[in-house]
Amino acid sequence: MNILLNGISGYMGREVKKLCDSGYRGAALAFGVDPCPADVDAVVYPSLDDVVTVEGVDCIIDFSHHSVTPALLDFAVENRLPLVLCTTGHTEDEIELIHRAADSIPLFYSGNMSLGVALLIELAKTAAAAFPEAEIEIIEKHHDRKVDAPSGTALMLANAICEVRPELHANCGRSGQGKRANDEIGIHSIRMGNIVGEHEVIIGTGSQTISLKHEAHNRALFAEGAIAAAAYLTSQSAGLHDMKSMLSPAKAISAK
Ligand SMILES: NC(=O)c1ccc[n+]([C@@H]2O[C@H](COP(=O)([O-])OP(=O)(O)OC[C@H]3O[C@@H](n4cnc5c(N)ncnc54)[C@H](O)[C@@H]3O)[C@@H](O)[C@H]2O)c1
Repeated sequence: MNILLNGISGYMGREVKKLCDSGYRGAALAFGVDPCPADVDAVVYPSLDDVVTVEGVDCIIDFSHHSVTPALLDFAVENRLPLVLCTTGHTEDEIELIHRAADSIPLFYSGNMSLGVALLIELAKTAAAAFPEAEIEIIEKHHDRKVDAPSGTALMLANAICEVRPELHANCGRSGQGKRANDEIGIHSIRMGNIVGEHEVIIGTGSQTISLKHEAHNRALFAEGAIAAAAYLTSQSAGLHDMKSMLSPAKAISAK
C-alpha cells in the first residue's frame, strides 16, 4: 500500500513516515508533500500543485493544517484517491466540503485516530445514558504547540454524549458570573509542555463520581491508527468513514 503523505515534515508526518519505513501493515511511502523543508529521506513536493504523477499511490494520509483541506479534497477527488484526513480544527464550511467530497471518494475523517479513544467514546455514551440526570464535564490536555481548542476529540466526546442526552450542549471554556447550567457539558482545555493528549470525562450524580480517562503516551498511536485506516479505506467505496465504521463497517455513513 503506497502512501502520499501530506504534511510529512510535521510531528505526525514524521511518525507516519517512520512506520512506512518499517513496512508497518504493508505500508510504504510513495512521496510526501510539505512546504517546509523536510529533513527526511524521501521525495517531498512543496505543494500538491507540484506533484507530477500519482501513479502507484493507493491512499493519501493527511496530517497538516485545516486550511489546506479544500485544496486537498479537490486533489483527492480529481485523482480518485482514498483520503485519510487526520487534521483537526476544521471550520463548518470545511466540514461541509469534507462531506461533499465523501460522495465521490472513500474518505476517513476522525478527530482522534486512536482505537482507545473510540472505546472511551462508547463508554462515555453508556455512562451518560445510564445516569440521565448526571452533570458531565470534559477535561482535555495537550502540548503547547496545539493551535485548536477545544480538541477535536473533546468535541467528538461531547457530540457522542449529546446523542444519548440531547438536552445537553457543549460550553467551551466556562467563564464569567453565574452557576453551572443543567444543560451544559463544560469542556476545559489545558495547553502545556509536551503532553501528547489526555481526555477525561467526569460524570457526577451528586452521590458518586465516575471518571473515564484516556492518555496517549506517544504520537505513534495516531500514526498506527492512520495507517490502519488507510488499509481499511483502500477496500471501501465512496462515503464518509470513521473509527466506528472501521470497527463495524456496516456503520459507514453516506457510503454508496
Ligand atoms: N486525528 C488525530 O488523531 C490527530 C493526532 C495528532 C494530530 N492531529 C492533527 O494533525 C495536524 C498536524 O499535527 P502535527 O502535530 O503533525 O502538526 P505540525 O505543525 O507538526 O505539522 C503540520 C505540518 O503540515 C505542514 N503543512 C502546512 N501547510 C501545508 C500544505 N499546504 N501542504 C502540506 N503540508 C502543509 C507544515 O509545514 C507542517 O510540517 C493538526 O491539525 C493536529 O491537530 C490529529
